[in-house]
Parts: sequence; structure tokens; C-alpha cells
Amino acid sequence: MQILDGKIASAAIKEKLKLIVEKRKAENKKTPHLAVIIVGNDGASETYVSSKVKTSEELGFGSTLVRMDADIPEALLLDQIKTFNDSIDIDGILVQLPLPKHISEARVIEAIDPAKDVDGFHPVSAGRLVQGLETFVPATPYGIMLMLEHFGVETTGKHAVVIGRSNIVGRPMSILLSSQHPFGNCTVTVCHSKTKDLASFTRQADIVVAALGKPEFLKADMVKDGAVVIDVGITRVPDATKKKGFAIKGDVAFEEVAPKTSWITPVPGGVGLMTIGALMMNTLKACERKD
Ligand code: GUN
Repeated sequence: MQILDGKIASAAIKEKLKLIVEKRKAENKKTPHLAVIIVGNDGASETYVSSKVKTSEELGFGSTLVRMDADIPEALLLDQIKTFNDSIDIDGILVQLPLPKHISEARVIEAIDPAKDVDGFHPVSAGRLVQGLETFVPATPYGIMLMLEHFGVETTGKHAVVIGRSNIVGRPMSILLSSQHPFGNCTVTVCHSKTKDLASFTRQADIVVAALGKPEFLKADMVKDGAVVIDVGITRVPDATKKKGFAIKGDVAFEEVAPKTSWITPVPGGVGLMTIGALMMNTLKACERKD
């Protein structure tokens, strides 16, 4: 068993990005600038947003963070997006999800200029991904692809089972793994909450991507020997022994599954670390397109 270490792979990406930004600055080219909007004060969203802003700064990117109250009218959020769409300096726009119930996520995502859609959630970005066209790939599946590439994990001809069909992870992941790409070319099965006898699919999988958000769902008897297991889960589970009062749990029962695998991602320290690097890659791409 080998660990797909997010610390190692994300450090390599960040180092590469840092050098590219330094070179751009030396050549008087534009510095990539990410704008992030957070609505309300959900604890997990706060953590993600602050690490996105912190990483932007570490890499020499510009960053703007706008906080809005949980009860703001949707129209005000749409106005803020329009301001960022119209700003020459802002290259990428990210509205942290989930949003409060009274705001339509679909309308908000569609309001973002597809040229600045560094989350890759806009229907234009999703449609381009399906058609194999140049686009912004959502950060989590993109980060997983970068991780497979970093560690040289063979994917061509393998059977990948993706558990979860969200627009953020499962659906784009299934498209990437099946696409014509050196780390794609898989035969992909998508499983979800209505799948009958899900374990009968995961047991056939050479690669399992668990993205359903149920702590320690994937057990050893659901995985075949030598499989590659990618854990996308990051659920906060109450834990009085931790300083913060919670522990982060993945969707994979790591202790029992790991010995059966060829490669496995830990939680924390796996996929989560890759997503920010992938977001920064997208922000750089948005900026480079303007050159
Ligand atoms: N919430 C959880 N993951 C994401 C993400 O990748 N982007 C945004 N905008 N919100 C999220």
C-alpha cells in the first residue's frame, strides 16, 4: 500500500505556481487575482475560504474577500458578482457554497462570467467539460487528476467506480476519468444513493472514488485487493478529545481499507489539499487567457 500524499503533490503544484507568478511579475504581466464571496458564517465554509485566501497570498496572487450577511437579498449578491464580472483586475470569481436557502445557487452560478468561473460550476464550463473542450475543471476532481498524475497512477483501461453524482465532484470526476487523457481512459460506473447493491460495483473496481459524504462508508469487504482508493469525504464528526471539538472523517474506513489497496488517499492530508492548488491553477489560467 502506498499513500497518495496530498502534502507532497500540492507542494509541488504550489511551487510551480509560485515560480510562474514570479516570472509574470518580472515580465510586468498581470498578477492573477481571485475574488471570493462568502455568505453567512458556516464554520466549515469559513475554514475553506480562509485557506483559499491564504494560499492566494502565499503564491503571490492578488485576493479579495467579500463577506455578506446570511440574510442578504439574492439581488445584492448578484450585484456583487456583476461588479467582479466587470472588474478588469479580477480574474477568477468564487462564491463559496452552500448558500442560505433563500438564495438560488443555480442563479448565482449562472451570474458568474464563464471566463472567470474558476470553480467550473457554470453550465458553460460543465458543458465544455462534457464535450472535451478547454474549460475550467471543478477544483476537487481536477485536484484528484493532478494527484494521479503526480504519483503516476495508471488509469487507462481500468474500471473506475465513482460514488456520488454531485455537480461539484461525482459528475465531473466521472467525465474526467472516462475522457481521452493520459490519466483518464477508464471505464466508469457512477453509483449514487439509489444504486442497488452498491458493494457489488465497488468490489469490481480498480479505482474507487468515494464522494458521498458519509463518514467511513467504504469498508474493507467492499474493495478488491490492489484497488486505488480516493477519499473525497471531509465530514466534521463531534470528538471531545479534539481541541476544536470535532474530527474530520473521510468516506473510507481507512484503517481497514488501506492494507488492501495499492494506493490510498488519507483524510486529512489527501484530496482536500489538492483542491486549493487546482483552484489556483484555474485562477492562473483565467489570468493567462487575458495576456
Ligand atoms: N463548497 C464545497 N466545495 C466547494 C468548492 O469547490 N467551491 C465552492 N465555491 N464552494 C464549495
